[in-house]
Amino acid sequence: MAGSSVVLTELHWNSTSWAKVVGEIASLEKKTFPEHQSYPRSFDDELKNKNNGLIYMEINGDLAGYVMYSCTSFSAIITAIAVKENYRRQGHGDALLKAVIKKCRSKLINRVSLHVDPLRTPAMNLYKKLGFEIETLLKGYYSLDRDAYMMCLDFDEE
Ligand SMILES: CC(C)(COP(=O)(O)OP(=O)(O)OC[C@H]1O[C@@H](n2cnc3c(N)ncnc32)[C@H](O)[C@@H]1OP(=O)(O)O)[C@@H](O)C(=O)NCCC(=O)NCCS
Repeated sequence: MAGSSVVLTELHWNSTSWAKVVGEIASLEKKTFPEHQSYPRSFDDELKNKNNGLIYMEINGDLAGYVMYSCTSFSAIITAIAVKENYRRQGHGDALLKAVIKKCRSKLINRVSLHVDPLRTPAMNLYKKLGFEIETLLKGYYSLDRDAYMMCLDFDEE
């Protein structure tokens, strides 16, 4: 939207806005993902783990979306990405995913992977658009009747 202020921020555990941001993200996650997929998690514990990170987006001060990731020495896993419904289809999911890929590329990481329900067409298209490829179909990954694709982006093959 013309004139909007879009800000991407990496959340740090000592940030003064920690509690506010984590609370808003927990509420967005609950609204976005069905109960059986949104496993109960303590954001505090997860994010204070130095291997985990979170980049969030604010639009005119409103929390519009986030992406969470977890890094090991040479690889990273994107564990969640969501954009609030009223901000979708405006390029923000693309911007969040590009931000985390850029972050990974700045480290020694050479592979980013994620799991996605094949029925989540917007997410599947977003990942494919940014170069992720389907590696494996994991039958019954989310529940007895819900599978997942593992998708990967390898930097050294680009
Ligand atoms: C997936 C999600 C993060 C995309 O966010 P977004 O801000 O709407 O995405 P963008 O506007 O940046 O779109 C980027 C690309 O995603 C794909 N896409 C996004 N929405 C789509 C839709 N409704 N239908 C089909 N493709 C879609 C397109 O490829 C699009 O590129 P294009 O605009 O050139 O066609 C958002 O739909 C969302 O939060 N979904 C619910 C949570 C979710 O499914 N998370 C992934 C769990 S694995």
